[in-house]
This record gives sequence, C-alpha cells and structure tokens, in this order.
Amino acid sequence: MSEPTSGVALQDPLDETAINAAVEDAIAAIAAASNLDELKAARLAHTGEKSPLSLANRAIGKLPGDRKAAAGKLMGASRGKVNQALARRTEELEAERDARILVEEAVDVTAAPRRRRAGARHPLSVLQERVADVFVGMGWEIADGPEVESEWFNFDALNFPPDHPAREMQDTFFLEPAEAHLLLRTHTSPVQVRSMLERDVPIYVLCPGKVFRTDELDATHTPVFHQFEGLAIDKGLSMADLRGTLEHFARTMFGEEASIRLRPNFFPFTEPSAELDIWHPGAKGGPRWIEWGGCGMVHPNVLRAAGIDPDVYSGFAFGMGIERTLMFRNEVLDMHDMIEGDIRFSEHFGMEI
Ligand code: PHE
Repeated sequence: MSEPTSGVALQDPLDETAINAAVEDAIAAIAAASNLDELKAARLAHTGEKSPLSLANRAIGKLPGDRKAAAGKLMGASRGKVNQALARRTEELEAERDARILVEEAVDVTAAPRRRRAGARHPLSVLQERVADVFVGMGWEIADGPEVESEWFNFDALNFPPDHPAREMQDTFFLEPAEAHLLLRTHTSPVQVRSMLERDVPIYVLCPGKVFRTDELDATHTPVFHQFEGLAIDKGLSMADLRGTLEHFARTMFGEEASIRLRPNFFPFTEPSAELDIWHPGAKGGPRWIEWGGCGMVHPNVLRAAGIDPDVYSGFAFGMGIERTLMFRNEVLDMHDMIEGDIRFSEHFGMEI
C-alpha cells in the first residue's frame, strides 16, 4: 500500500475486493436514486473528489512504475462502470421528469375559460356625469366646493338668520370646536355663494357633490349622499328661464314625454321658492309625478352677500339628490344597495364611459 497523502486516506488502487465493493456501492446508490436530486447526491458521494474511487484513482500516481498499468486498468474499468450506470440512470430519470411535466402542465383546450370580471363604475358616478354632461352641453361650467364647510357659507350667506328654525330643518353634523363654526355641508347650496364670489357674472354653474345629514341609514335615507346644484346669474333671468332649463334637463334624462311641475315652497335662499316635481313617463307602475328637488329665484340677500347687485342681476337655482334620482330612474328600491359596494349591483347597470 502506498503512503497516504496529507489528511486524505487514499485507497489502494490494486485492492480489487475493496474497489469492486466501492463500485457495487456506487451502482446500488445510483439505482436507488428516485429523482434527479437524489441522483446528484449519489454522484457526488461516489464519484466526487473524496469518494473511495477517486481517492484510489489518485493513489495510482504514488505507485511504483511497474504497478501503475495494472492499477490504471482496474480503476479505469471500475470508474467506467459507475459512469455508465450514472448515464443510464440520468437518462431514465430525465425521461420520467419530462413525462411528468407533460402531464402536469397539460392545457385542456376544451375546458371552460375562467371568467375575469371587468368591474363596473358605480351607477351614482355615472349618473352624476350624465347630469353634468347635460349642463356642459348647454355651456354651463362645473364648480365644486369643500365638504367641510363654514357655517357662514352653508347657512348665513344663504339667508338663514341665526337661530332661525330653518337651520334645524336640516340636521347638521357640526365639527368641534364649536367656535370654529365648521360643519359637514348639509346641501350643495353653499357652492352658489362660493361661485358668485369666485367668478364674474354672468354665471352658469353646476355643482355635483357629497352632502351630509344626521339621518340613520334605512331604505330611503343615508347620512352621506349626493346632490347637484345649479346656479344661473345673469341680467334679466326669470322664473321662465328656470322652468325652461329644468324642463330641458328633465327631457334629456327621462325622455321627450317627461315634464315638470313647480309647487310653491319655502327656502331662505330663494324667493319665490318651489318644490320641483317631475312627470316620469317610465315610472314603475305607470307614469306619475315624483318629487325631485327644490328650486327658486336667488334671494336678493344672497346676491348681496356675494357682492352682486340685485337691482342689476337676477338668478335662479335648483338642487336635487342624485341617490333619489337613481332610485326612481332605475327602480332601485333600497338605499343600502347603493352604498354597500357590491360589484353585482354596479354590474347590473352596465358599463358606461
Ligand atoms: N339646497 C336645497 C336642499 O338641499 C335645495 C335647493 C337648491 C332649493 C337650490 C332651492 C334652490 O333641500
């Protein structure tokens, strides 16, 4: 036996019994590998640098010259057997893997496709845009204002006197501290005053937006809802202009047979004021009058609060609820459906861009 080199116990390349045993071990381990990972482990253990066969092979160099040939022959044959076994098993396991991938990744071209939901815009947003489109089509502008509003814009500037019971007509969410006089706007009418302060006359604006009242959520009420406010200020505007505008609007939204009716009412910020009804030709259960919103001629005090001379200019305003409009326009019976966010509700209305 030759001298072992540092640290590594070299095998005797002429010990045929030991070499054959190593070959058998290797062949058994190769045969036992049931996948390519196990085969790789077997290859490293039996043909790697520190495997008995490699160590024996390396030891040939240390043999006396006359014994090298015999040792080389034995080692060559032994390593050849192991390499052949490795090559065969690799081929088998690769074939197995390929066959398995074919099965696992098979695509059934006859299977029903999985439906991908496209989503839908909320019908309230769609309706809000439609309303805006009608007015933009008449040359009006879209205005907006803050949802957290000052009491002055929401009430005072709109001619609600302090402590007037009309302030309680609308159940208001006030913000703390009370001295800040801030609230969640109860209607979109404060945008009337904001628009008059921000713009030059003549003014024709539509303001859709969120409003808040301390109502409990039920089938017909919600504490957060949407309105759209219209305001026109010009020289010589009269109730006839208000009527004509609303009638045109009603027909665009509800069809040519739609019409409107005004019934006397009271709002502090309009005089005269009216309740607006619409004749809804397509109403469920037959055509009928439906209460739609409020309107009137802008009160001179409101014009004054915004620095507009009521002797030169006059104006009209109107305000309607978007939820309410969607309810009777599309026969939505329960407010909950509009705010729960169930995609099936929105999809029902179809997609409109
Ligand atoms: N702001 C009123 C409301 O919310 C509606 C309205 C608007 C009435 C404009 C007259 C003019 O009830």
